Amino acid sequence: MRRKLVAGNWKMHGNHRSNAELLAGIAASRPFGCDVAVCVPYPYLAETAVALAASDLRWGAQDCSAHEQGAYTGEVSAAMLAEFGCRYVIVGHSERRQFHAESDALVADKAKAALSHGLTPIVCVGETLAQREAGQTEAVVKRQLSAVIHALGHCAGEMVVAYEPVWAIGTGKVATPEQAQAVHALLRAQLKAATPHADQMQILYGGSMKPDNAVSLLSQPDIDGGLIGGASLKAADFVAICRAAG
Ligand code: PGA
Repeated sequence: MRRKLVAGNWKMHGNHRSNAELLAGIAASRPFGCDVAVCVPYPYLAETAVALAASDLRWGAQDCSAHEQGAYTGEVSAAMLAEFGCRYVIVGHSERRQFHAESDALVADKAKAALSHGLTPIVCVGETLAQREAGQTEAVVKRQLSAVIHALGHCAGEMVVAYEPVWAIGTGKVATPEQAQAVHALLRAQLKAATPHADQMQILYGGSMKPDNAVSLLSQPDIDGGLIGGASLKAADFVAICRAAG
């Protein structure tokens, strides 16, 4: 049995006070029977590291630079994140692909930079509604994942993959467990062709996962956890999803 991972993606939300309350609420509800992480905005990494230091909760960032260092104003390198004790970094979130024009190749380079500094990249893939309706879901997610598999080579087994249908993110329109499982199975098959570790890899579902739909999604054979946006901002909801996974 693969251990599940529930990762909160706080996006651009929070402040000192609300973060402290949220982290304390999650920490107070331990232990969980799954891996639990929060991916927070950069300025809050340090306080998150302090707040969670005595717990088994993990923390991460929501993006990193593909570059090692240099004249890249506004960018944050994987090495810097590693210094904060980050375990994870989300790369290729659809909001970055959409609003920051991140290409498959750039996402792959970011995943590689993360791994080379000991961070686990959570690589997001997913189709838009138009692509789904045009019957392109399989081709799109395979293309996105294949760029990363190619860049990581024999280390491909070390990433976490998150299937996040773009039409389900923040919309309240969740993929049915069957729709999600079908794509997860495709992704697992693609990983199997690339790495002997595919059966141990965590493939998360993301997109309007909430306490009331978590159990049915997480009981699918190839859904190994969740990448949680909106519901990760309320301790009670996030904890309920962690319990559903554990
Ligand atoms: P959501 O976001 O749970 O609010 O749909 C998920 C994500 O974007 O990672």
